[in-house]
Amino acid sequence: MCGIFAYLNYRIPKTRRHILETLIKGLQRLEYRGYDSAGVAIDAPSKGAHENGKQICVVKQQGKVEVLAEKLRGMAEFDFNDEMLCHVGIAHTRWATHGVPNEVNSHPQRSDPENEFVVVHNGIVTNYKALKKLLEGKGFKFESETDTEVIPKMLKYLHQQPDAKDISFSTLVERVVKELEGAFAIVVKSVHFPGEVVATKRGSPLLIGVACSGELSTDIIPIRYCKSISEGDHSKVVPQNNPLGSLHPVDVECGVEYYFASDASAIVEHTRRVIFVEDDDVAAVSGGHLSLHRVCRGPGQDCRALQTLEMELQQIVKGSYNSYMQKEIFEQPDSVLNTMRGRLKFESNIVMLGGLKDHVKVIKRCRRLILIGCGTSYHAALATRQVLEELSELPVMVELASDFLDRHTPVFRDDVCFFISQSGETADTLMALHFCKENGALTVGVTNTVGSSISRVTECGIHINAGPEIGVASTKAYTSQVVALVMFALFMSEDRISMTQRRKEIFKGLEELPDQIRKVLQIDSDVKELAGEMYKQLSLLIMGRGYNYATCLEGALKIKEITYMHSEGILSGELKHGPLALIDDKMPVIMIIPRDGTYTKCHNALKQVTARRGLPVVLCEENDKETISLAFKALLLPSTVDCLQGILAVIPLQLLSLHIANLRNMDVDCPRNLAKSVTVE
Ligand code: AGP
Repeated sequence: MCGIFAYLNYRIPKTRRHILETLIKGLQRLEYRGYDSAGVAIDAPSKGAHENGKQICVVKQQGKVEVLAEKLRGMAEFDFNDEMLCHVGIAHTRWATHGVPNEVNSHPQRSDPENEFVVVHNGIVTNYKALKKLLEGKGFKFESETDTEVIPKMLKYLHQQPDAKDISFSTLVERVVKELEGAFAIVVKSVHFPGEVVATKRGSPLLIGVACSGELSTDIIPIRYCKSISEGDHSKVVPQNNPLGSLHPVDVECGVEYYFASDASAIVEHTRRVIFVEDDDVAAVSGGHLSLHRVCRGPGQDCRALQTLEMELQQIVKGSYNSYMQKEIFEQPDSVLNTMRGRLKFESNIVMLGGLKDHVKVIKRCRRLILIGCGTSYHAALATRQVLEELSELPVMVELASDFLDRHTPVFRDDVCFFISQSGETADTLMALHFCKENGALTVGVTNTVGSSISRVTECGIHINAGPEIGVASTKAYTSQVVALVMFALFMSEDRISMTQRRKEIFKGLEELPDQIRKVLQIDSDVKELAGEMYKQLSLLIMGRGYNYATCLEGALKIKEITYMHSEGILSGELKHGPLALIDDKMPVIMIIPRDGTYTKCHNALKQVTARRGLPVVLCEENDKETISLAFKALLLPSTVDCLQGILAVIPLQLLSLHIANLRNMDVDCPRNLAKSVTVE
């Protein structure tokens, strides 16, 4: 939800062209987070507007990042070859929450028409109305409908106070941040602090990449703590002495570049050395030195270490595919293999989940499992509930995070709560996590993003290792989440002799899964043909039951999300309780009919549909002649164990949504109104 990016070059001369290209490239990598509008702030050619001769130029544009890039290329007032030895540029791509997507509401937001302070922000300032009122009372005039605008205005207001004369940029930002409520990550630039940048976060993700032309002074930055002498008295926030708290090039002659971003994908092409900013850290670069501050000693460590990104550039580029979504669908044979890699011993049917090892006893003794997620991640929980109930012999609740919170669901100390999230940043899921922690439950993260909030806040977890997922529609993360949860079910049953045979079947199914996915992907041309017959329709119903109810919901979500066609996943058991009224020879229907325990009941539903002149397209196993003979059309899948059949069945639905969206000329990677990571409630 919004992408922020900033680039600082110190003692490494860079042209304005290079700086703008770096900012635009950073935004393009983050575009999946929001693409309503975009903007940048850089140093303008000096016009002497401020005492130090510096002026900031803000350029914003409604629409995708490329439209902004085009606008920047056409800016006659820029000397693109002008070289700057030290410069800070900040940039933003927006997913609108407060205020429609237009130029004024785009970021950077500013303190005043002179752009004394400019801010890019991801998240929501929940108390912005009160702050706005206060600032309006002090004579500030607001121009946008955003919550963000209070931040630069508050910076300017506090900077004007007599006691603020000699304070540092980071102290000023700390003072402002103390007034903010909500979840946010911000990066700030100011004419009063040329060559400096300050960033901080609470809830929303932020990391800093460091590239140095020589050796760096340290790999570990101690946090400099600042303590407030008197609560509520902002003028008396004083830093405690910690002179070593910064990172910088060892050799004074060396230059350094810093990249601030919401996500590693915007940094990895510049450097692999990063620092993950933690909640309430205030990161500041001044004179090429990066230091980290905190207002008070809270939970967390007293230093931040430089880490090495394991991500490969090739993972975040489209390559020969037409879209990230297509690439990610076709990556699934490998992504599910990576989820299993090093964790399953197929010769001995042993599962090793290293991320849970310190909590095995508590997990195995728990009274209930609660699986919590949103959207596709919720569907992954639903898809695995049955096998988890069967192999753990525990009650398993599956919850949509927002509803779970609305109900104030009772949670107990002997519950184990799973938080399933591709991004690891989804606000509703994160809030549910805090709620469960407060109630004493053990919390387990199932995420795809190392260092994400959910992976850090949970006590233990399973990383799904699917590799970066950039298309807004989740595909490979879903199949890997299902595999991870099935592996957890196996882990819960490893001592049960009575389940040996069942476990064997599932191990075998998992071992064969990558090849079977490869086989399913070969029916892409059949699916494309089907899409050609369906893309002009207004609606599509997808029916199934048992393990495949979740497949239907997930397929329907994909269709809605990227084709904008109405689609509904229907539990076939519910057909006769209402949805059957929709059936006639015009209504497109897909039915999932695996040869599992629900087979006969699925056939009942199939007959109910055909008896009403319905023309069902059936997803069934390749040797199931009976089903094929009853269907209007059939897409054939390899057979696997019941709890994994849904993985094979969801792939044609992912492909169908992709082809329908392409035929409707939709941008499959950036569907309207959506963003990849939903960091607001
Ligand atoms: C799926 O295609 C969606 N984009 C969406 O439902 C997504 O799964 C949901 O927002 C949860 O995201 P998360 O997995 O990152 O928590």
